[in-house]
Order: sequence, then structure tokens, then C-alpha cells
Amino acid sequence: MILYPHVDVNEKGHLTLGGVDCLSLASEYGTPLYLIDTDAVRENCRIYREAMRKYFGVDSYPAYASKALCFSGIYPVIKEEGLGADCVSGGEIYTALMAGFPAEKIFFHGSNKTRREICEALDARIGCFVVDNEEELELLNDLARERGVVQNILLRITPGIDPHTHKYVSTGRIDSKFGSAIPTGAAESIVASALKKNNLNLEGFHSHIGSQIFDAEPFVKEAEVLATFMADMNEKYGCGCTVLDLGGGIGVPYTKYDRRVDRAAVIKEMAEALKAVFRERGTELPRVILEPGRSIVADAGVTLYTVGSVKRLPGMRTYVSVDGGMTDDPRYALYSSRYTAVIADRACEEASELVTIAGRCCESGDLLGEELELQIPKAGDILAFLTTGAYNYSMASNYNRVPRPPIVTVGKGKADLAVMRESYCDLIKNDIL
Ligand code: LLP
Repeated sequence: MILYPHVDVNEKGHLTLGGVDCLSLASEYGTPLYLIDTDAVRENCRIYREAMRKYFGVDSYPAYASKALCFSGIYPVIKEEGLGADCVSGGEIYTALMAGFPAEKIFFHGSNKTRREICEALDARIGCFVVDNEEELELLNDLARERGVVQNILLRITPGIDPHTHKYVSTGRIDSKFGSAIPTGAAESIVASALKKNNLNLEGFHSHIGSQIFDAEPFVKEAEVLATFMADMNEKYGCGCTVLDLGGGIGVPYTKYDRRVDRAAVIKEMAEALKAVFRERGTELPRVILEPGRSIVADAGVTLYTVGSVKRLPGMRTYVSVDGGMTDDPRYALYSSRYTAVIADRACEEASELVTIAGRCCESGDLLGEELELQIPKAGDILAFLTTGAYNYSMASNYNRVPRPPIVTVGKGKADLAVMRESYCDLIKNDIL
């Protein structure tokens, strides 16, 4: 019944995450409540780290995509597991640095980095900028020159691949706001520009084709296209590039209908594709970086809610209203993403009712799921949503002036408050008039 190895049911019949009783956590910290199992995060990090070492070589490593879940407490875990960090804003970089994450292992992404963010990142001496466009290249070079530094960069390349995922999370097609496309010639042209910049050192190329992808095939294609592009550029311009960052995107199962992807097997297939290209071109295999986000943290997360009311509309549906909603998890409202939900003290009972989970916002679209199979719900139940570690807390908002829930981490059988619940004071602290 339970989807993930980290989620279980104890002798009292209560749902547990990382061995800790979810009902006790709900009563100690209140709901809504985000839980993150750091042992599960570590396990996911190791799968990537080991497979990448084995198939790509010892210099290759994963850089955790911070956008999936960014709070101070995640970075020591990522650092200890030997990962780099992909950050996409000044705010993410600041959080990482304040948490003691090494600047040199940060990759700075974004299709429109501001001058201020670029200055801050240069001053912090972050390892690598992933440059999106010509204007950024120009600005970064100027700001690096002012500081008398030579900054390592990768160029974001659009390979022209459709990964067959939700259009909002598909990024590798030519019609994309990200990067420079190979088929249009824009990619080659930005390489030529980058090589003229004295304060930038072009180390290699980056691409990210999308998110929540279940097949190896688009990743293999991406690896081939990028490897060929890199070999072409090295031959034509003698640029000596040695790094290929192939982004993130491996999917995770949210329901029993989704497949579980064998991450090591995908990495192996990508490595074989890369090796074939570089063998044919007679050059060394590059250092490979991958940027998994969802597949590092999604299955480590559970969100707990309290059921406020159950409305049975005969012949229509049953609305189960909870004390959270699109403010702590906008993914159903945005992408119709499906989840698995369980009543935390009856997780072993049959999920015999089909329900709609409604959030608390004054908005009909504030739903967390429809046609969800659930144990018969009643007011006061603790409802657990599984697989909420990625893109839930990081996409939360204060819509309707709802304070954001806290994060409690569980690891090695104990729980710690990692992020406090927002207070009403927090909500008005920046209001001046
Ligand atoms: N690298 C880059 C450049 C990215 O843009 C992303 C995700 C990743 C890595 C990590 O991808 P992952 O391994 O997590 O699939 N909010 C959406 C997902 C947006 C993904 C954006 N980019 C969701 O909730 O499904």
C-alpha cells in the first residue's frame, strides 16, 4: 500500500516517516506540517553519487537543484554527501552560503540574472555561472573585469528535444525561454562570443530538457546531442571544453500508477551514449554534472493536514477540507499533479472512498487532488500527503495571508524543527504603511 520505503505504519497503526510517528509530530508541531526525512535525502544523494562515479568517472558528481527544496538545513546534508548545488537566484545562493555550503561548488542558473545577483555571486566567488544569453555574457564579463577575476562559465544550450512531459516543465525544445538553441545556430554563435571574453573561462555546456521524465530515451538523446556539440565546438574553435552538465529531470512516482525509475540505469545509458560519441571523436570523456532536484527530495517529504470538514454531495463528490492547500502545495492547481493521500491513523485500512481534497483558500481551484482514493475520512483526522518533498515548500505562498507551515526534519529516528511556522508578525513585518 505504502509507496516509499521511508514511509511505514507502526504497531499503533500510525503512519511513520523515517521511523517517527506522524501523529505525534502533528500533535507536537501542529498542522499543516512539512516533514523531511534526511536519511532518505542522503540515500538518494548516494544513488546519484555512486552511479555517476561508476559510469561517468570519479570527477563527475551531482549538483542538487536547490529550487526543489531550499532551506538552510538541507545544505549541510547535501554538502556532507559530496554534492554540488545548483542555485537559481540570489536568495538560494545566500541561503546556501549562510548554511556553510562551499561557494566553489555552486552553479548559478537563471535566464535573467540581475546585475545585483551577478555582483553578489562574483563577490562570493561561486564556482560556475551557467550563462543563458548574450546580454548576460556581456554583463558578466564586464563585472568580472571590474573585479579583476576570470569566472568559469558553462553555456546553456537548448538541444531541441521534446521530453514528453507537462509543457510547464519542458525546457529542451527550441521554443524555450532558456538558453541558445543548436538547430538555429544561436548556440554556436554564443560560443564564439564567449571565447572572445577575456574575463570568462568557457568550461563547457549545460542543458536541462525538463522535469518529471520517466524514460531514459530523451536523456540519452540529450547526452548524444550535447556531446556532439561539445566535440564540434572543441574541434572548430579549439575551446578545450571539459565539462558537460546535463541537468536534472528524472521523474518520481507520486501514485501507484507511476513507474519508479532506476536512476543508476539511466545514468549508465547516458554514459554509454557519451562514451560512444567521444570514442568516435577520439577525445577524452568530459566531467559530467547532473542536477537532480525532485529525485533527491520528493520521496523524503510528507505533508500533514488536519481535516476540518467532510461534505458529501450525493451523486457528485465528497469534499474533504484541510487546513492547508494551494498555499503550501500549488502543484495540483498548476499542473494537475496527482498524489497519494492517507489518513495517518488508519493507513492500513482500505482506501474505499473517492474524494476531492479542498484547500482553505477562497478560490474554487484551491484543490490538492480529485478522485483520490482514501480511507473513510472524518473531521479531526490527520491527513498525510506523500511525496511532497519537492516543489511544495519551495513553491509555497502567503495567498490569503496564510502563514507558511514549518519544516520538521526526521533523521536517525529523531525529529528536529528546521524551519519555524510563520507567524502573523512575519506576515506584516515588511508592511510600512
Ligand atoms: N536543472 C535545471 C536547470 C532546472 O531548471 C531544473 C528544474 C532542475 C535542474 C531540476 O529538475 P528535477 O530533477 O527537479 O526535475 N515546479 C515544477 C518543476 C519545475 C522544474 C524546474 N526546473 C513541479 O512542481 O513539478
